[in-house]
Amino acid sequence: MTAPVGAQADTEPTAPFLRACRGLPVDRTPVWLLRQAGRYQPEYRALREKHSLLEIIRTPELAAEVTLLPVDAFGLDAAIVFSDILPPLVGMGLDVSFAKGDGPQIANPISSTRDVDLLGVPPAEETMAGTLAAIALVRDELESRDVPVIGFAGAPFTLASYAIEGGTSKDFSRTRAFMFSEPAAWRRLLGKLVTVQADYLAAQVQAGAQALQVFDSWAGRALGREDYLRYVAPHNQELFARIADAGVPVINFSLGVSAYLADAAACGGDVVGLDWTLPLDEAWELLGFDRPVQGNLDPASLLAPWRELAFRIDDVLDRAGGRPGHIFNVGHGLVPQTPVENVRRLVEHVRERTS
Ligand code: CP3
Repeated sequence: MTAPVGAQADTEPTAPFLRACRGLPVDRTPVWLLRQAGRYQPEYRALREKHSLLEIIRTPELAAEVTLLPVDAFGLDAAIVFSDILPPLVGMGLDVSFAKGDGPQIANPISSTRDVDLLGVPPAEETMAGTLAAIALVRDELESRDVPVIGFAGAPFTLASYAIEGGTSKDFSRTRAFMFSEPAAWRRLLGKLVTVQADYLAAQVQAGAQALQVFDSWAGRALGREDYLRYVAPHNQELFARIADAGVPVINFSLGVSAYLADAAACGGDVVGLDWTLPLDEAWELLGFDRPVQGNLDPASLLAPWRELAFRIDDVLDRAGGRPGHIFNVGHGLVPQTPVENVRRLVEHVRERTS
């Protein structure tokens, strides 16, 4: 069975990914990739012919199978449970679907303070049982290989933006209009999201997750610094504070926050996930070299010829400078056009260059 909560905190881990999360020296730089399981893989596309995204996510055996696909194929240093950030919204009362090609959609978006008050805050064991069971299956499978499993959740602003816009947005104008017009309801909405996500993240640790990643994909795209500090940061702080004693390292991945990286990082988390917009050494220096970082290859690099891709991988590694506390990753998710062969060569190259 899996280790109880907090068990990892007292003994030094051996897995390079968990060691880097704590700033400990490693015998090679650990590497995993955002969206490492997905449409660029023929095996995934074949499964999607037979099952919808939500079906895969809700069926523990299928979710575990997809989670393991890239780990088995490329020898990555961590598995991230196959799910999405939006399914927890379903249990709160939102009608989430993933239409082909259009991205996620919510049929009953929030448009009033009453809609906020009607949202439920059910426990994750009731609403996300499939993902929790998938984590346990993956942990059982990977324990003997010493490959850790990562659980994750969306940050409150990013989830609120989907709940209010009804889908992905270019300018987040509805979200910002709501935030500016109904500040009390905005606080209640983000409070409910923090409650649900903190409970869900803790449940993932109970189920066997050995690290957690919080994705704040859109706050940095939508907001200037002052609005970020006022409308987002207190809620992110609350979320990170509630999971700080879960006994596993937490990665704070906030996309598009280069203009206020230090403020976003100050919200919490042990490791800072970096997007590709700042050179890694510059971002790391700003945060302080004692804070572990994850990143930050531009995912479009994997669409380049090998010579260019290798040059760009080396650039990230050179900027990391062999300091402890670096986890190699892309700065945002792999895109569907990514050649499988480039993922394989990337992982091999990072391993060869850093062992
Ligand atoms: O391997 C992994 O990284 C785990 C799987 C994972 C998915 N979504 C699977 C997925 C993770 C970690 C996510 C997180 C997620 N989902 C985020 C945060 C990270 C980010 O990219 O900023 C966000 C914003 C979402 C919302 C979302 N889900 C969008 C915008 C889309 C459509 C865009 C797209 O890439 O198709 C999804 C669908 C989705 N989630 C897919 C996958 C593999 C594609 C679904 C399919 O098979 O059709």
